[in-house]
Amino acid sequence: MTKFTINGREVTVTSEDDTPLLWVVRDELGLIGSKFGCGIAQCGACTMYLDSQPVRACVTPVSDVAGREVTTIEGLSGPVAEAVRGAWQKLDVVQCGYCQSGQMMTAAALLSEIPAPSDSDIDNAMTGNICRCNTYQRIRAAIHSAAETLKT
Ligand code: FES
Ligand code: FES
Repeated sequence: MTKFTINGREVTVTSEDDTPLLWVVRDELGLIGSKFGCGIAQCGACTMYLDSQPVRACVTPVSDVAGREVTTIEGLSGPVAEAVRGAWQKLDVVQCGYCQSGQMMTAAALLSEIPAPSDSDIDNAMTGNICRCNTYQRIRAAIHSAAETLKT
């Protein structure tokens, strides 16, 4: 059993200690916004925050999160999250959508750290988030747009 907080709610899960956090969150807790893409920390579709830092939940054993705070796309909140959601909608970023919760989690983490990122800041931060639909240009524009919103 592992006890942790997810999106502000304390939970106790019964999955084996070495079960990846992604499986626990999707299958045991029913939060399906985070996706399985590669399972080997290469695509970013499963990105969540662990104590406010992005992690690849597909390779994070649930035992690692005991007593800690997990945030998923369902619980992403606050001004940065709102700016990201608004920009994603305004610029119609999403195509199939499969990668986008991971993209938005990574983008929000970037904007929390660097409120007005350059193109190269964006490229560096987002490089590990793969999009099979090739929405990279719209993602970059949306991050700039969210940064503008956060200035006002
Ligand atoms: S599913 Fe976790 S990085 Fe691809
Ligand atoms: S929107 Fe389809 S994989 Fe990114």
